Amino acid sequence: MTHTQPTQLDASHFDTQARQWDDNPVFRERGLQIAEAIREAVPLHRRMSVLDYGCGTGLLSFPLKDELGAILMADSSSGMLEVVAGKIAAQGVNNMTPMKLDLLVDPPPAQRFDLIVTAMTLHHVPDTDTILRIFHDRLQPGGTLCIVDLDQEDGSFHGPEVDVHHGFDRADLGRRAARAGFSDTHFQTVLSIAKERESGTRDYPVFLMTARRADTGLLNEPLL
Ligand SMILES: C[S@@+](CC[C@H](N)C(=O)[O-])C[C@H]1O[C@@H](n2cnc3c(N)ncnc32)[C@H](O)[C@@H]1O
Repeated sequence: MTHTQPTQLDASHFDTQARQWDDNPVFRERGLQIAEAIREAVPLHRRMSVLDYGCGTGLLSFPLKDELGAILMADSSSGMLEVVAGKIAAQGVNNMTPMKLDLLVDPPPAQRFDLIVTAMTLHHVPDTDTILRIFHDRLQPGGTLCIVDLDQEDGSFHGPEVDVHHGFDRADLGRRAARAGFSDTHFQTVLSIAKERESGTRDYPVFLMTARRADTGLLNEPLL
């Protein structure tokens, strides 16, 4: 029997998915549920500068855009960003800017943010510790990080041919966030994704982690 090596879902995979992404009612509903969970967990305001990292077509940030200030819509997929740009133009949105960005490869944006949100993206980013440190560095002191992602699973969510993190163990992710300098870390379950598998319907719970960049000077060392 031959085994193929699992591969990462790179930007070209998401490029090919981008045009049809918003046709999927499950993705649209998921975006609304995550937006509502963030609204309940974080006091949002119109002066808040935001990074939506791995924004996809913007299904999380479009529902929140009227409650926030400037939103940088960052993704490594040009196809996703083209859809975002089209929606910005069609809706006359004036507080969203698309940016092609892979923080493990590209220089980070010069500005700091009051809020960083990242939904269903962290499991695609190979180096969790590095991305957490970059998020910490790019937050204003007192700023908030919101990570929405899969709880630890057995790899069946994407299947054996795909090389991604199999969700995250909450305690382990919390410890990694603390090592990156975050405090006040909280987890809650925000939704569950049902998928048909050989063994029947499987539910994959999804968490929201909120964490704060301390506003004292001690932990705010620049990124090395
Ligand atoms: C499952 S989609 C989620 C999109 C969106 N956040 C949502 O909830 O609908 C994952 C997104 O992460 C992006 N992505 C994957 N790896 C990335 C990386 N290293 N840097 C930036 N974006 C990345 C993909 O292009 C894709 O748009």
